[in-house]
Parts: sequence; structure tokens; C-alpha cells
Amino acid sequence: MIKNIINLRDKLEALLLIQENFHNDGKVADYIPALAGVSPKLMGVSVATIDGNVIGAGDHQIPFSIQSISKVFGLVMAMNRLGDELWHRVNMEPSGQPFNSIIQLEWEKGIPRNPVINAGALLVADVLTSHFSASKLAFLTFLRKLAADENIFIDNHVYQSELSHGSRNAAMGYLMKSFGNIEAEIPEVLSHYFTQCSVAMSCQQLASSLLFLANKGIDPKTNNTICSPRDAHRVNAILSTSGMYDQSGEFAFSVGLPAKSGVGGGVVAIVPGYGVICSWSPPLNRFGNSVVGTNLVSDLAEELGLSIYH
Ligand code: DON
Repeated sequence: MIKNIINLRDKLEALLLIQENFHNDGKVADYIPALAGVSPKLMGVSVATIDGNVIGAGDHQIPFSIQSISKVFGLVMAMNRLGDELWHRVNMEPSGQPFNSIIQLEWEKGIPRNPVINAGALLVADVLTSHFSASKLAFLTFLRKLAADENIFIDNHVYQSELSHGSRNAAMGYLMKSFGNIEAEIPEVLSHYFTQCSVAMSCQQLASSLLFLANKGIDPKTNNTICSPRDAHRVNAILSTSGMYDQSGEFAFSVGLPAKSGVGGGVVAIVPGYGVICSWSPPLNRFGNSVVGTNLVSDLAEELGLSIYH
């Protein structure tokens, strides 16, 4: 583990320099048109530790679209609200399919494989929509509290873009509703889901806001309990097996950290007992995971010996 914070900053700078050669390897997401305009050259990385340090390099303070990283926050809110009943409506198995695949939903009678593929996140969005009087505000308030930053915002341009290109998510919502696994009306569920995906945050804010998952559910900045130790364990387990979608096996094999990606190019990785890494670079690989973002987490985890399987 890192003893010297100055060394950590130097190390992050050095890792970013190496990655300058790799940002041409992926492709910026364009199925949500508002994401296509983001420069492929932006890249940043932050490390937040449970003992209070937040170290960053590159574009670590620039807000980007958190996209599927929002699924982690939504899941924690739904677990807190619904308790174990949640796990009757969504499973905890890897899907082995792309994040937006619809194919298993029909076979498995409208029960999503896990809460971090799109179908599962829509189910979670239904729980939030049905159990909060103003779920979008509750979501944003939760993030602002976790990041200790009132400036976190919803990017309305991204929201509108998702809304007008959301047919596949809508199809999954209606399919689950046909099986009786969605309570609210689908336009409401989609509106919540696209809102949470459209939140903009920086690497620094994301790393800091997820520290509770590295600290048995307690936010070390405030000592507030965000979730139970059992639920922190469960979220980390799901991120280990499914957070990088159908690249999760390879990521566990080579990196060994619970992690979640988003098509905005962000990757967060939880290091239990130590802290959180967040990296960002918009070009994605074929799994929808950031090429450079994944490399950065991988290189840092290897250099510092952070794998949870050691
Ligand atoms: O629903 C979608 O497809 C996007 N709003 C989120 C997908 C995503 O970030 C997948 N992550 N790699």
C-alpha cells in the first residue's frame, strides 16, 4: 500500500503518461449522441483513501457523465429501502452478455440477472420511483451528501439525448412489466434511470463518494452509516462478478478488485480497507468499458499489490 502521498501523485502522473499512447485504441460511445462529442484525449485518475487523502492527476477534476456508475448508488439506495425483498426481483449472477442485452429477460421471466446490467438497473429505478416521493431529487441529494459537494449536477443535454435514444431500455422495461416485475409506469422508470445516468461527476468526486464501500458501509469522512457491512459486502461482491459486464471474469483474473464502469468512460474500483480508485478516459472497448480507464486501474492495482485475492 502507499505510504507516501507525494509518491502516489508521481505514480499517477507516470501511469497517465504511459496511457497517452492508448487512447486511440477505443471508440467514444455514440449510441447516446450527447456522449459522442466528448474529447477522446481527456484522461484523469484519482485515489481517495479511507484515512482522508484524495490524490489525483490529469483531468481528475473535470465532471463527466457517470452513466452506469450510477447503478452502484441506485443499488445502495434500493437495498436500504427494500431490504432482502429486492433479491426476489433481481438476481446476483453474472450475465455473460452485453450490458444492454435483452435476451435473458424472456427466458428468465423478467428477473434480471443482476442489478448492474441495464435490465437490473431499470428494476432498481422502479424500486426508487415507487418508494420515494421524488426519486430523482433523492438520488441527487444522496450523491451530493456522499461527495460532500452541493455542485454535483444532472447534465440535461445528456438526459435529453438518452431519452430520445432509449428504445432498448424501454423495451426491457415493458418486458419486465409484462412479467409483473415493474410497479411504476415505464416512462417514469425510464425518466429516473436516464436522470441518474446523466449525473456529471469528476474522478475526484466519484472516488471520494464511494469510500463507504471500502469501509464496511461507513463514510470515513463523516462517520455516517451509508449501508450495513453486509450490504457493503454484497455490493462489492456484485461489482466483482458483474461490474465490468462480460469482461468481469478477465478483470477479476488480471486486476482483482470490485469495479464498475460507465459508457461515459469512467471506471471506479473499490479497495476494501484502503480506498477507491476512479479513472476516466472516454474511448471504450467492445465491452463498453474504458480502455485507458481499465488500464489505469489495472496498472495501479498491480504496482501497489491491491488485489483482494492476494
Ligand atoms: O442505458 C444505457 O445504455 C446507458 N445510460 C448506460 C450504459 C452504461 O454506462 C454501460 N456501461 N458501461
